[in-house]
Amino acid sequence: MRALIAFTALVLTSHAAAQFEKRIYQAEQAELKGVKVGTSVQGYTGHGYVEGFDEASDSIIFSVNSTSTELFDLEIVYNGPYGDKYTTVVLNGAGGSQVPLPATTEWKSVPVGQVLLNAGINTIELENNWGWYLVDAIGLQVSKQRGPHHITTIPVNKNANSDAKALLEYLGSIYGRNILSGQQDQASLDWVTQNVGKTPAILGLDLMDYTESRKSRGASSTDVDKAIAFAKRGGIVTFCWHWGSPVGLKDTNDQSWYRGFYTDATDFDIESALVDTTNANYTLLLKDIDTIAVQLKKLQDASVPVIWRPLHEAEGKWFWWGAKGPEPAKKLWKIVYDRLTNLHGLNNLIWTWNSVDPTWYPGDETVDVVSADTYSLGDHGPIAATYNRLLALANDTKIIAATEVGSVMDPVQLQAYDADWVYFCVWSGDFISGGRWNSLEFLKEIYNDPYVLTLDEIQGWKGVNTQ
Ligand SMILES: *[C@@H]1O[C@H](CO)[C@@H](O)[C@H](O)[C@H]1NC(C)=O
Ligand SMILES: *[C@@H]1O[C@H](CO)[C@@H](O)[C@H](O)[C@H]1NC(C)=O
Ligand SMILES: *[C@@H]1O[C@H](CO)[C@@H](O)[C@H](O)[C@H]1NC(C)=O
Repeated sequence: MRALIAFTALVLTSHAAAQFEKRIYQAEQAELKGVKVGTSVQGYTGHGYVEGFDEASDSIIFSVNSTSTELFDLEIVYNGPYGDKYTTVVLNGAGGSQVPLPATTEWKSVPVGQVLLNAGINTIELENNWGWYLVDAIGLQVSKQRGPHHITTIPVNKNANSDAKALLEYLGSIYGRNILSGQQDQASLDWVTQNVGKTPAILGLDLMDYTESRKSRGASSTDVDKAIAFAKRGGIVTFCWHWGSPVGLKDTNDQSWYRGFYTDATDFDIESALVDTTNANYTLLLKDIDTIAVQLKKLQDASVPVIWRPLHEAEGKWFWWGAKGPEPAKKLWKIVYDRLTNLHGLNNLIWTWNSVDPTWYPGDETVDVVSADTYSLGDHGPIAATYNRLLALANDTKIIAATEVGSVMDPVQLQAYDADWVYFCVWSGDFISGGRWNSLEFLKEIYNDPYVLTLDEIQGWKGVNTQ
């Protein structure tokens, strides 16, 4: 049985039905920069369409009104007779997101995602990008209020221990109300403490340097000890696993063993290794899983539950476990899950899947949390489009985490877009301390924002909301 927890969503002021109607803004009536009105391609609405996107500075600027600060679904009506193109959508002169306009010889509407309009006049600008497309209009419709979440907070492992249960329960208790701050790597976490004046609630660590192919080449790690120490301070830990391939490392200057988790640094073929259970390479995979099981067991014995994120970013294909597509990756996930859970009796793990595409999803029965890693330099937006894809991925039954970010999301925007990421974890080194991805001033702001929970604010979480 699954316990379903439904949180009351923010109740918006009720809208007149009219406000849910789509508003169309004709391109030919907008401000045109370097582009012109055309009428020769039939089927447009209004008095024409806009064409002539052939210079980088070409754009259409729509002025749109909103009576209040509100989220809208934006669509672009276009025609693409010259092949697959892109436009860049800029809201109120800041940022910009690239939107694909696939080839079409008919007028088509493409959903762009959500835009948060301010009360009063806003601008939505379509910038050239690849150019060579025709724009008929844009449409704006007040976003439908999302219903309450239906997340489950009972771990998928029916033998999950009380530590794991308490952790998932705690994550569920803050989901949609707060976001936990997180930082990858002990040294970077300490940098936050010293420079920002607050300590993240979550410490991100890596089982990378515990396996044989790396240890035999001189790697070593104390990340498990660091996790135990951080848990003693009342913190929450998460582990990923940059799993160096057990064999087949190229070990050259360009593709050193140190990069052995990358597809391009190894000959290891996950698909052929998984063909049958007698394959020598299959056995090597199991050996590595057994090796890290020893480390996870230390954590279990120390009463430390782990937000556990193996086989991360599989869909990116840049790691060997994703290199042969979704089927081998999902198969390996199930092997890892089964071996750690059923053979090694590891009951302290919160299983965290880290690809967004549904064709990669291993299924609800082995996943506690769904997540994504996103890096967008200097962009403190809410990553709402990805959040919404993850909501759809598990039909809103799983808690959603931003397991790796470069620039941290602005809490004000997270709340405005209802992007309920349960935590963020900034990657180590320059991402947190270099000043480019996150200014120190911005970090101080967000770490002091009441929406963002820090180590001091989560003390006693194991006892919270557990009967
Ligand atoms: C926006 O609304 C104001 C007030 O209703 C109106 O005066 C103005 O013309 C509108 N602007 C646009 C671009 O629709
Ligand atoms: C195991 O993987 C290595 C490295 O890719 C490869 O050279 C070897 O042929 C594989 N062994 C088997 C039995 O497939
Ligand atoms: C998704 O969740 C909703 C709300 O709980 C439910 O009504 C619906 O049947 C679910 N859809 C699927 C495909 O599971």
